[in-house]
Amino acid sequence: MRVVGPNLGPVRRSLRPGRLIFHVPGRVNLIGEHIDYAGLAVLPMAVDRTLRIEATPRNDSRICATSTAGFERREFEWTPQIPPFASGDWGNYVKAAAQAIGDHWGVQRGIDMAVDSNIPSAAGLSSSSALLTGVTLALLSAAGIETTFEELMQILPDGEHYVGTRGGGMDHAACLAGQPGAAVLVEFNPVSATPIPLPGDWAFLVAHSLHRAEKSGAAREQYNNRSRAARAALAGSVSSPEEANALQHIRSEAARVQHAIAAIRGGDVPAFATVLNESHRSLRDVLQVSCPQADEVVEACLRAGALGARITGAGFGGYVLAFCLRNQLAGIMAEIERDYYSQQPARAEFGEYLMQVQPSAGALI
Ligand code: GLA
Repeated sequence: MRVVGPNLGPVRRSLRPGRLIFHVPGRVNLIGEHIDYAGLAVLPMAVDRTLRIEATPRNDSRICATSTAGFERREFEWTPQIPPFASGDWGNYVKAAAQAIGDHWGVQRGIDMAVDSNIPSAAGLSSSSALLTGVTLALLSAAGIETTFEELMQILPDGEHYVGTRGGGMDHAACLAGQPGAAVLVEFNPVSATPIPLPGDWAFLVAHSLHRAEKSGAAREQYNNRSRAARAALAGSVSSPEEANALQHIRSEAARVQHAIAAIRGGDVPAFATVLNESHRSLRDVLQVSCPQADEVVEACLRAGALGARITGAGFGGYVLAFCLRNQLAGIMAEIERDYYSQQPARAEFGEYLMQVQPSAGALI
């Protein structure tokens, strides 16, 4: 996939000269959880919640970022080694993009940017990877650097490492290469993104566990432990219960990705639902990345008639993904609301705690 400029022709024409706009979607992972960092194939989809960046190139090498989400303005000089802000600061995703580009292409011109997003944060829909990806595209574009999907997939995980996450490349691949109406089969070594069209009568919703999973907080340590254990186990040294669990989860989850693809291609609803339910059991009992609140929401979704449900994303809170047929969706959402959320006053703090998510276009499409 060749990205020119990156991909800004139509956008540029509609704007004042020099001003660039990027839309980067969030993603939900359908199946293949906690295995991308082991280099195994995963099946996310880009969703209809988007981060928007409006950027104006500068004539110096300062980077200034504002956000409509109530985060404070951040500004810094783009140097070869950029010292991070305090841990957990949103500006570190901006710095991460600049550092990753600087390492690969050298320091470039700065930009002024305004970030706006309706991707719920700290919830498993990849709001932070969308920010990293969007800033990367904006900086590259301002510098006139042409790149490719493959090259972006090399540098974006480095950006995650800058903020301290030892993750894989699933999120970036999904938010770059998502396709309307399709999931994306993301494979690594070599990296590729293949659309897998979803049956038109299938529907997905996400239901919040009402427990935040801050990727920059305690959940990050837990996440990094799982990814360390997986890498060690795959390298052939299973020397702790954590590594044995990681290996067991990885093997079964990798097989579920293949089963899910076969189910999608065959329109096999029960088989796809089974894959989701088995994935949740493995994430909860074997890898132990769920939490009681998410387990309750999975049960609430199934009680309401969802065919399959599981915690999605890094885990430890955030959203649960549920699957049903399109004609069941409204009834199921109403039932989840009545049976579960109406008794959870904390829901008021979580914005769109229950919503449909639709397979959508990625930033490069
Ligand atoms: C986070 C990471 C991804 C992936 C998931 C778990 O979202 O950013 O790379 O590892 O967790 O599947």
